[in-house]
Amino acid sequence: MPRKKITVIGAGNVGAAVAQQILAQHLGDVVMVDIAEGMAKGKALDLNQSAPILGYQGRVEGTQKYEETIDSDVIVVTSGSPRKPGMSRDDLLRINFDIVHTVVGHAAAASPEAVMILITNPLDLMTYTALKTSKYNTGRVVGMAGVLDSARYRFFLSAALSISPHVIEAMVLGGHGDDMVPCAGLTRVGGAPVESLLPAETLSAIIQRTRDGGGEIVKLLQSGSAYYAPAASAVRMVSAVLNDEKALLPCATLLQGEYGFRDIVLGVPVVLGAQGVERILEIPLKEQDRAALSKSAAALEPLCRQIDQWLREKE
Ligand code: NAI
Ligand code: 2OP
Repeated sequence: MPRKKITVIGAGNVGAAVAQQILAQHLGDVVMVDIAEGMAKGKALDLNQSAPILGYQGRVEGTQKYEETIDSDVIVVTSGSPRKPGMSRDDLLRINFDIVHTVVGHAAAASPEAVMILITNPLDLMTYTALKTSKYNTGRVVGMAGVLDSARYRFFLSAALSISPHVIEAMVLGGHGDDMVPCAGLTRVGGAPVESLLPAETLSAIIQRTRDGGGEIVKLLQSGSAYYAPAASAVRMVSAVLNDEKALLPCATLLQGEYGFRDIVLGVPVVLGAQGVERILEIPLKEQDRAALSKSAAALEPLCRQIDQWLREKE
């Protein structure tokens, strides 16, 4: 059987780490596309040269051209400008809207049957942009944020409890921004509610640190933003699609009435498989989590309408 083909657009920090983890997990061949001359080609050559040492079977090709991405199974979009210190994710909106609109137009035309995973920030709004631009059906465009934010939350909880993160079940829902919703009501440690194991102040400090998780790394790095855990999160989703896992993961998807919201992209629990988002799971939420989700949705709604306006201007 031929190997799967995964296109990664943007060969910067996140894109290159995604390519590397795809090779390490033997998920297929990668085509990396970048606007910067030499960036994709140079990183592809570097990654391919690690194959004899690390036993990679897949190959990476670097290019500026979309012809080489034709008939990809999955497209991962990382192209954009990263957040700088003091800059909010939403400051990036117009810059990255133009970039995502352009690259998705080319990539979707070359691979009309692919599943597209968005990473570029502001994540929920770029997923909305990609969905409208690609004209793919709804489930085949999905945003990565909840997997990352949930991993950060589980990591902080595991450190506070001195327990393996693997026994912590948790989901961060909502938008990938200051209003994200680490759902305390859904958090279980070995089946026990987290509230029974941690004092309320500790839990609320962890929830706040999760919300600030991306910004904490931006401040430390001084230049650029996180990429190891973001890439691991995206590749978790690539694997769920290519292996038709029907994995239950928090992902950004278009809501059409689910959870009481319509025509916005928001992070919710989805079943991720070969068709992309195959189902949205409506899990009953505790009152405080539901209120926080409504706040997050309300912040995104006018920005989605702003994108509708920009898309009309480009028609
Ligand atoms: P980076 O600056 O290292 O890489 C971005 C790459 O995109 C650059 O190589 C640039 O040349 C390329 N690019 C720009 N315009 C392009 C175009 N029109 N066509 C092709 N390539 C183009 O940035 P990094 O760290 O890789 O982050 C990428 C994006 O992912 C940012 O928007 C960042 O905020 C976002 N991000 C989102 C996360 C999430 O949880 N959803 C987590 C981490 C990063
Ligand atoms: C993050 O959460 C920058 O959104 C990116 O690390």
